[in-house]
Amino acid sequence: MISGEDFKDTDGNQINAHGAGALYYNETYYLFGEIKKGKTWLVPGQSWEDYRVPAGGVSCYSSTDLKHWKNLGTALRSVTGDPSNDLDTGRVIERPKVLYNEKTNKFVMWFHNDRNDYQDSKAGIAISDSPEGPYTYLGSIKPNNQMLRDMTLFKDIDRKAYVVYSSEDNNTMHVCLLTDDYLKPTEHYTRILIDRNRESPALFKNNGKYFLITSGCSGWSPNAASYATANSIMGPWTEIGNPCSGTNAEQTFFAQGNYVLPINGKPSNFIFMGDLWNKLDLEKSGYLWIPFEVIDGEVKINN
Ligand code: GAL
Repeated sequence: MISGEDFKDTDGNQINAHGAGALYYNETYYLFGEIKKGKTWLVPGQSWEDYRVPAGGVSCYSSTDLKHWKNLGTALRSVTGDPSNDLDTGRVIERPKVLYNEKTNKFVMWFHNDRNDYQDSKAGIAISDSPEGPYTYLGSIKPNNQMLRDMTLFKDIDRKAYVVYSSEDNNTMHVCLLTDDYLKPTEHYTRILIDRNRESPALFKNNGKYFLITSGCSGWSPNAASYATANSIMGPWTEIGNPCSGTNAEQTFFAQGNYVLPINGKPSNFIFMGDLWNKLDLEKSGYLWIPFEVIDGEVKINN
């Protein structure tokens, strides 16, 4: 378990990988996350606590034991002083996720790309020949012209991949099948958790069943997580309830989930990965990683 701000890489530096995602490839775990660096500021004129920090691009770390993480540098670089560029530090580069595509032998990154008032609501897509990058930016899209904010990617055992995202102004989530090269959305999508106002999706599979852990929508402030299950990724999804128990379970132990990492070789063992946001100083945000097991189809995350 990892908890707090003190999560260091093998050089002894703080790990800078927020809203993270992970990839298991060639017996190695790769961690990708938002680089948050610089002074936190509040976007004026917003009805919510729109605290921002310069978007420093996407970091990449690797590990073979999930304890020692080596910094592999910046996987996707941001640019400075060009607000018309999707990758400008003044915009939003959040929740990066990477999949490996066997057909094309490429690594494909999707992330939430936005203006600092979150009104663009789209996905950025980038590609690389190696897991750590550098990734070449391909551009941004709204899948089927729908809003996309918090998001994750999921690759199934048949190698079909999906993007799962908060849409319709965060009211409803969508699950959208990607093209075979994982570079574009297809027209095949479904609306799930309708009007439930969920975000920070983390999707995993156990014993043929799909599990989706989400948070509520309260910006950088913690709230209760909830999970849903389905026999088909396109639904129907059934909401089960809060997977967390114990002290502060109603606030997800002050964290917000970003990914569920399957442990290689242990089909029912996972790590719930979350962010301990520090909204007034976002670069000081910490991490909460909790190992858990799915027992008899139930998710129980205890701190
Ligand atoms: C959260 C979201 C984060 C970030 C934040 C901005 O709700 O999960 O990824 O976008 O809002 O306030």
